[in-house]
Amino acid sequence: MGFYGEQVLPRLLSAACGTKSAEPLRRRVCGGLAGEVVEIGFGSGHNVPFYPAAVTRVTAVEPSDVGWKLAATRLRAAAVPVQRAGLDGQSLPFADDSYDAALSTFTLCTIPDVAAALAEVRRVLKPGGTLHFLEHGLAPDERVRRWQRRLDPVGQRIVGGCHFTRSIVDLLTTAGFTIQELDVFYEKGAPKFAGADSLGTAISP
Ligand SMILES: C[S@@+](CC[C@H](N)C(=O)[O-])C[C@H]1O[C@@H](n2cnc3c(N)ncnc32)[C@H](O)[C@@H]1O
Repeated sequence: MGFYGEQVLPRLLSAACGTKSAEPLRRRVCGGLAGEVVEIGFGSGHNVPFYPAAVTRVTAVEPSDVGWKLAATRLRAAAVPVQRAGLDGQSLPFADDSYDAALSTFTLCTIPDVAAALAEVRRVLKPGGTLHFLEHGLAPDERVRRWQRRLDPVGQRIVGGCHFTRSIVDLLTTAGFTIQELDVFYEKGAPKFAGADSLGTAISP
């Protein structure tokens, strides 16, 4: 992966994802999580302060060792146990039907085979389990979409494979999830091409 991907990118992503303005969104997406939770693309643990007390344990799936190390302070202060037990959302080392809920924030943009990752999330979720998602993706407006298509190759090259043009709702429904709650909006403080967010919950049948 090289020095940039291993050392620089996780620090850039941690800084970009760790804004104050994202905190109310993280609080919202974590609301209602309970029981055994798997978080894919854990990054540097910016959701940790927002896990509700009803969560019994979080299993973190994260390929970046640097990202995991950057989570140390948040992990020490965590109110619920968190363990890193997977490196790749596309292939989860967990048994079928083993989690009550899953969490993904700003990650479905990056995973190369996102359909495989969502199939894996469905496999490890118990029937009726819920995926809580906060993701940026394809904008609702054609004018913004044009910019997203232009800038997509840049994101893929310098933002660790990040796509701006993925339709989160289409990905979830194609994977067999049923959308339960959905809010689509432009994130305050973010450029529209990278801040067309979808926040909600989706149920695995
Ligand atoms: C933009 S960051 C978001 C991190 C964190 N979810 C947050 O909200 O702050 C995207 C994360 O996805 C991770 N990632 C990339 N490829 C992945 C994969 N195949 N499986 C799981 N996570 C992956 C990256 O290492 C990075 O931590």
